[in-house]
Amino acid sequence: MALSLRRRLPLLHLLLAIFAAASRGDDQSGEAYNTTICERQPYRCGEVNISYPFYLSDQTADIRGQNGSYCGYPGLGINCVGSKYPTLELDDYSYNVTHINYTDNTISLADPDVLDDESCPQVDHNVTVPSNMWLMNSTEHTVGFLFFFANCSTPTPIPVPGLSINITPIPCASPDGGGGGYSFAVPSYVPHQNLLQQCKDVFQVPVLQNASKIDQDWSTSGYRNILDLGFQLEVNSSQKSEQCNKCEESNGQCAYNRSGEFVGCLCDNGQVEDQECTNGSGNTLSDFY
Ligand SMILES: *[C@@H]1O[C@H](CO)[C@@H](O)[C@H](O)[C@H]1NC(C)=O
Ligand SMILES: *[C@@H]1O[C@H](CO)[C@@H](O)[C@H](O)[C@H]1NC(C)=O
Ligand SMILES: *[C@@H]1O[C@H](CO)[C@@H](O)[C@H](O)[C@H]1NC(C)=O
Ligand SMILES: *[C@@H]1O[C@H](CO)[C@@H](O)[C@H](O)[C@H]1NC(C)=O
Ligand SMILES: *[C@@H]1O[C@H](CO)[C@@H](O)[C@H](O)[C@H]1NC(C)=O
Ligand SMILES: *[C@@H]1O[C@H](CO)[C@@H](O)[C@H](O)[C@H]1NC(C)=O
Ligand SMILES: *[C@@H]1O[C@H](CO)[C@@H](O)[C@H](O)[C@H]1NC(C)=O
Ligand SMILES: *[C@@H]1O[C@H](CO)[C@@H](O)[C@H](O)[C@H]1NC(C)=O
Ligand SMILES: *[C@@H]1O[C@H](CO)[C@@H](O)[C@H](O)[C@H]1NC(C)=O
Ligand SMILES: *[C@@H]1O[C@H](CO)[C@@H](O)[C@H](O)[C@H]1NC(C)=O
Ligand SMILES: *[C@@H]1O[C@H](CO)[C@@H](O)[C@H](O)[C@H]1NC(C)=O
Ligand SMILES: *[C@@H]1O[C@H](CO)[C@@H](O)[C@H](O)[C@H]1NC(C)=O
Repeated sequence: MALSLRRRLPLLHLLLAIFAAASRGDDQSGEAYNTTICERQPYRCGEVNISYPFYLSDQTADIRGQNGSYCGYPGLGINCVGSKYPTLELDDYSYNVTHINYTDNTISLADPDVLDDESCPQVDHNVTVPSNMWLMNSTEHTVGFLFFFANCSTPTPIPVPGLSINITPIPCASPDGGGGGYSFAVPSYVPHQNLLQQCKDVFQVPVLQNASKIDQDWSTSGYRNILDLGFQLEVNSSQKSEQCNKCEESNGQCAYNRSGEFVGCLCDNGQVEDQECTNGSGNTLSDFY
């Protein structure tokens, strides 16, 4: 009897050890992460506070062995150029971030070519949002569009419906100003069929709707003032997975890897969980063993 018990004990130990190891394996969900990538305090870059679901694009770490993971939604990485100028990249173009509103989850952007060229701002590319970024046209505050026609063969002014006013070529961006052809800036609601035929290049940029007014000064200062205001995009939160929703409900922050896949829930206590942050220590068998 005593002998058989002594023989069985090692087996019992072995089983307990396996069980404990297995439960520690499950508990890998409670692995630690480098909390500098998910600071709860906003980071200030110039005039803009950056915090979740936005993040600093260089704040990445290995989370659960996934190289270059970050704390925030895909595509919301902000560069802080020279520790002063927040910028966001859309489709290989870098835009200055002028404001982030965390109440309605909008980000305000402006084209640096426009901001930094006071004398004669010209649009030379379309603003496009890549589909892997969790951003969309802002539903509330944007979205009017401005068409920028360049390399036009005609200086013929464009009539604005309902107003006794014509849109004339932009003086500084037309042949006398040294360009290759005439240029026009036209709000999207103004019919511009003939320009489509007369101009080699057309670009479309979003503007704040409120600003789509036209007066005598439109082709000199008017269009520039509107471009200076920039445009707004809104975080598309409906892209969030159930896991990420649960994570945020438990006061955690969602981490994604470089290809935009959810990798885990980053919790206040420095632990990574599958989806929910639990506070208090989980029991493991080793506590009893
Ligand atoms: C955490 O990340 C910061 C910034 O990248 C780094 O300086 C620090 O060494 C990291 N800490 C650990 C424990 O890896
Ligand atoms: C940025 O965050 C700090 C600290 O939370 C706050 O005092 C400041 O008013 C914020 N600034 C802006 C522009 O939101
Ligand atoms: C992580 O990704 C970076 C950028 O692609 C690469 O340079 C680096 O070698 C990767 N590190 C590991 C451990 O895979
Ligand atoms: C826009 O960002 C660039 C850095 O990419 C910076 O050099 C420029 O001064 C910024 N413009 C404004 C008006 O903040
Ligand atoms: C942020 O958005 C909210 C909701 O639309 C608005 O009430 C508030 O004025 C905005 N804040 C700023 C600083 O624009
Ligand atoms: C924003 O609206 C424009 C014009 O309707 C459209 O071409 C563009 O795809 C939209 N962008 C996004 C990110 O939805
Ligand atoms: C006008 O056309 C020329 C030659 O094709 C091109 O180099 C230039 O970038 C165009 N201008 C604009 C504003 O698109
Ligand atoms: C820019 O957008 C306009 C209007 O949507 C389109 O006609 C034009 O081909 C686009 N230009 C480029 C270079 O993609
Ligand atoms: C919107 O229009 C109002 C009244 O015309 C003006 O006071 C305000 O500055 C405008 N806002 C923007 C962002 O243009
Ligand atoms: C927001 O994301 C959802 C889910 O991916 C997508 O179906 C929807 O088209 C997006 N909305 C816009 C306006 O891009
Ligand atoms: C991101 O995670 C997905 C799913 O786990 C994986 O298939 C993909 O290779 C990962 N991407 C990177 C860059 O680690
Ligand atoms: C767990 O969370 C509750 C509610 O948020 C809080 O009151 C309590 O102090 C937390 N306990 C620990 C150990 O952090």
